[in-house]
Amino acid sequence: MKILIKDISELDCACDVIILPFTEGDSGLYNRFGDVQGLIKKAFSKEFRGKQNEVLLIPSPKPIRPERVLLVGLGKKNKVSAEKLRQAGGRALVYLRDMGMKKIGLSTSVMHSLKLSPVNFIEGALLGLYTFKNYITKKDSKSIEGITILSKSSKDLDNELRLTGAVTSAVRFARDMINTPSNDMTPTDLAETALSLRQKNVSVKILEKKEAERLGMGAYLSVAKGSKEPPKFILVEYKGGKGNPIVLIGKSITFDSGGISLKPSEGMEKMKYDMAGGAAVLGIFNAVSGLKLPVNLVGILPATENMPGGFATKPGDIVKTISGKTIEIINTDAEGRLILADAIGYAKRFNPRAIIDIATLTGACSIALGNEAIAMMGNDRELMNKIKRSSEKTYERVWEMPLFEEYKEYLKSDIADIKNTGGKTGSLVTSAYFLYEFAEKVPWVHLDIASTAWAEKDKPYIPKGASGVGVRLVLDLIKDLK
Ligand code: BES
Ligand code: MN
Ligand code: ZN
Repeated sequence: MKILIKDISELDCACDVIILPFTEGDSGLYNRFGDVQGLIKKAFSKEFRGKQNEVLLIPSPKPIRPERVLLVGLGKKNKVSAEKLRQAGGRALVYLRDMGMKKIGLSTSVMHSLKLSPVNFIEGALLGLYTFKNYITKKDSKSIEGITILSKSSKDLDNELRLTGAVTSAVRFARDMINTPSNDMTPTDLAETALSLRQKNVSVKILEKKEAERLGMGAYLSVAKGSKEPPKFILVEYKGGKGNPIVLIGKSITFDSGGISLKPSEGMEKMKYDMAGGAAVLGIFNAVSGLKLPVNLVGILPATENMPGGFATKPGDIVKTISGKTIEIINTDAEGRLILADAIGYAKRFNPRAIIDIATLTGACSIALGNEAIAMMGNDRELMNKIKRSSEKTYERVWEMPLFEEYKEYLKSDIADIKNTGGKTGSLVTSAYFLYEFAEKVPWVHLDIASTAWAEKDKPYIPKGASGVGVRLVLDLIKDLK
């Protein structure tokens, strides 16, 4: 799909549809277009108000070039924000695509006068138009060919568009990996996807099972034991700046059956998305290398399936991590923290300025926050504040949860250094406390994306399925790091 910028009047746009955004109740915004204004007035008298995400498609009056006009609501004028534009962009473009429209023009005067960038609207459109049709054999022809932004062009606008292009394609890349079923997204497939990112500034290394054994990653390997799929400990390195790297760790369970602590079958098909953290990390590398951001980054994806089997780890087993700490495994379904413990242990070799892990870690995350927020916990106030700011900008919202020292007690084992579950109460925070015990003094933030990585229903710019959450959030953080 092409995105162009043209400095022409709405009335001269050679397109199937011209999009006119409206703030609520403000029917006079396009008074300058005599003929169209008549139709707008009529719409406002009956079926259209300009409420958030409201759309109305009407045929154009004769003398203007666009064949149709789409009125799009942005909601109340004093409440319009970047997020409202993203939502309107997603809603409008998905609607137009489903109506079979191909060439779209976008009026920007209202957005400019609200001091908001039309690129937010485009971002929503690019994210909302995502589809995953790789397994549907019947091809459908409904797709938008191009959007023309009607505006004066400028360096700023060009730069913003370039950034949004890179960010949204990274999100789409992550969504594709996550939506792909686990039979086609095994640890080996994930490793191959990582290898496809290799470039001048990006190196990728895969540690095989033997190497992980030699390194003593007993917690990670204990999760892989029940599966016939070989585990792959994936390392990605990007060199774009000076100084110590930030390490991004992504939980990469390509299928989580629960292992011997088997999950109930209802909803188990969704456990292909238990590698959404890893996919987000690869998405981030994809954009960072494309944009040549001036940072150093390391990505770690401890990839494996979690399966029951004759060799599978059993409740009560004790394993040793790369750091030397021993873990009593109470529940084999609490496997995410096991692989993350070794990933965090390994990350310390890079002498990182910070570790950020992104993981679909607990069901309790959605009990606490519904599907609206990422749970954030960590030991570095400054980094958490920065992430909070990025979360407000991107609307990939985070909410901080505590790491009270009393939680340590919950994880006390009688016969090992720590156990892998602290029981039902507080399981969102105790899972993070477990990781904290492995991060120790290294600046570290944990993002639990279990409840946000998958959309149960269509949202304005997140079609049902993998959301790609984490990509926009962390990219926003990284792009402003000095
Ligand atoms: N991958 C799951 C968490 C999850 C659940 C993600 C639902 C997305 C949707 C994780 O490995 C898990 O099974 N966690 C358990 C931990 C429990 C056994 C302590 C949970 O949250 O139920
Ligand atoms: Mn699990
Ligand atoms: Zn899991």
